Amino acid sequence: MQPLLRLWHSTIGKKIAMAVSGILLVGFLVTHVVSNLAIFSNPEHLDAWGRFLRSTGPLLWMARIGLIFLAVIHIVAAIQLMDRDAEARPAEYAKAGQAGSRWLALGMRVGGLLLFVFLVVHLMNLTWGSWHPAFEEGKVGQNVIILFTAWPMTALFYIVAMGALGLHLGHGVWSFFQTMGWNHPAWNAIRRPLALFLAITIAGGFALIPLAFWMGWGW
Ligand code: HEM
Repeated sequence: MQPLLRLWHSTIGKKIAMAVSGILLVGFLVTHVVSNLAIFSNPEHLDAWGRFLRSTGPLLWMARIGLIFLAVIHIVAAIQLMDRDAEARPAEYAKAGQAGSRWLALGMRVGGLLLFVFLVVHLMNLTWGSWHPAFEEGKVGQNVIILFTAWPMTALFYIVAMGALGLHLGHGVWSFFQTMGWNHPAWNAIRRPLALFLAITIAGGFALIPLAFWMGWGW
């Protein structure tokens, strides 16, 4: 435990914690986007997936607690690194050539904050049903359809948030390799394309659903 705590208190330890928690959260996003896309074949497929998840009982709760833990680690490490960065080099970013990094860092923070707000709104909409025009427990597909049909501005908010998710993933996945020290020339060639691929397929896959409402593609 002691070595783990010592690692957590170091700057590199926090960067590793951010990278590893981030990549595990990407794993959750992959399963979530794949199961969501089943709505295009039949909205009831989402109900079946929801029933299956609930049938796993304590396993579902363990996964939820794991996700919350990862999100807390990711956010706390980000805030602490931000503070350390501000303390360590208050004037350095003013130099020419550092402006790009400053904008990138600002974009990651603002994007991260928007994603946090999105997540709270999203859980209120589709998990707790506390902010939804006609939420029905277990009717997962129908809840999505009614939400975006009755409140089109919510669909627009989801599309904007998925834009932020794409940008966050694009830089986050690339940074993961950097932090883990996987910058061998063999990896370098695929780092940027892999980050771009994951960002576009994950965020684009999610965005397709609210987009479908605006484009009149179905339902
Ligand atoms: C257009 C995009 C999205 C749609 C249509 C969507 C849809 C849904 C639906 C229908 C549920 C309820 C599932 C059920 O009760 O069985 C859900 C739960 C959830 N979603 Fe999303 N989702 C989207 C994007 C996202 C994103 C980008 C994130 C993370 C940043 C996310 C995180 C979650 C979480 C954490 C839950 C709760 C899982 C649980 O504890 O049961 N979702 N989503």
